[in-house]
Amino acid sequence: MLSGAKNSALKLLAASLLTDEPCTIRRVPHITDIATMVAMLRALGADVEYAGDQLRVHAGAALSGCAPYELVRTMRASIIVMGPLVARLGEATIAMPGGCNIGPRRIDFHIRGLEKLGATIEIDHGFIKIHSTQLKAAVVPLDYPSVGATENLVMAATATDGETVIENAAREPEIVDLCDFLRGMGAVIEGAGTATIRIEGGHALHGVDHEVVADRIEAGTYLIMGAATGGEVTTLGLDPLHLELFLGKLRGMGVDVRVGDRSITVRREGPLAPIDISTLPHPGFATDLQAQTMVLLSLAEGTSIVTENVFENRFVVVDELNRLGAGISTSGHHAVVEGPRALSGSVVEAPDLRGGAALVTAGLVADGATDIGALHHIDRGYEDLVGKLAALGADVARVDERPRTGEGPRPSLSSCDDETLRSAPAGACGGGA
Ligand code: UD1
Repeated sequence: MLSGAKNSALKLLAASLLTDEPCTIRRVPHITDIATMVAMLRALGADVEYAGDQLRVHAGAALSGCAPYELVRTMRASIIVMGPLVARLGEATIAMPGGCNIGPRRIDFHIRGLEKLGATIEIDHGFIKIHSTQLKAAVVPLDYPSVGATENLVMAATATDGETVIENAAREPEIVDLCDFLRGMGAVIEGAGTATIRIEGGHALHGVDHEVVADRIEAGTYLIMGAATGGEVTTLGLDPLHLELFLGKLRGMGVDVRVGDRSITVRREGPLAPIDISTLPHPGFATDLQAQTMVLLSLAEGTSIVTENVFENRFVVVDELNRLGAGISTSGHHAVVEGPRALSGSVVEAPDLRGGAALVTAGLVADGATDIGALHHIDRGYEDLVGKLAALGADVARVDERPRTGEGPRPSLSSCDDETLRSAPAGACGGGA
């Protein structure tokens, strides 16, 4: 069973700041990015309670508008509190973001969009200071369908008087989920999932009870693992339309893909064919599945070209994959993946979240054991990776390499940097994820 989408749950937590009533968010994944966002909401003065995979957020009168550097620098997605804070409080001070090591991730679309809505923005000593006595409705054309900018603007626009139109908006399923959440709070929004989103602002927002959409990137990762190991994997809980183009690419490689209402099964027996992929905003090929797909292409009978159009520096895992025997060369935003390659185990280090998932995929296929370090990257976005892989039949274990001096507490979600994941091929993956 798939977890709730990281990239939706983070935004729903931020959206809970828009009301002084409690919000309940269900199917929240246990991953460190969520722990960081919870810490952020608490730092802003909200009460947050965990109960299993449910979170209850109550941003009452004590809400403040200052997002601290220590939290924003660890997770770029923290800037998503900008829109809700300016909507609710009329001001916010947010540290400039850090986050994943995948290129200079700018925030100019967020800033220009909020300025269009009447906010005054100043950047001072690494902090973004936003102020607005009253946001005003506007037509905001985005230069690029940025996911985060679309989300910040939709949330800010709930506080404007009149209709705001976001043109060239992002169309990801997580945007639709956020808009469903906001509608549940009483917002009036049309067009989510299309390039034009209309928000009629000024409606009082109240508490909501909402289940997070399933994680399409987690689903895609396990489906790739199934295809790579020559096994059978079924994901449960995701609308297959959220991965339509990706599933078409798998079929193009010769993978047997069957879809049900909320299930996707892949099976692969024969050889894999090479294909070209080019990442694009949704509904294009998701950049978050690019690194994992390169592992599959390394097993294909021929040469594939991968073009990364969304982020710079998103080939950072290539050197590590080549250490495992892949034959990938890069030039600018293109990668040439030579196949078929026989992968063999080695010691590697996760360079970022999705690159880490690619190394796990390679480790499942490689001959011999693969030790993967810097697991804190993977922990940002994959709930119970080891448990889910073990249920699929993989031989994978989390190895704590620190010397143990007695029965200390197990590492918390955010303190496992010095653990290693050891994986080895265990025949084909099988069963459901
Ligand atoms: C979100 C996802 C991330 C995914 C990405 C693209 C979350 C928490 N993260 O990131 O997993 O890979 O969408 O699907 O939801 N850009 C600018 N100026 C801006 C904003 C963005 O130049 O103001 C550029 C970025 O540097 C990047 C591209 O636009 O090159 C895409 O960014 P965006 O769509 O905003 O992605 P995120 O919201 O950061």
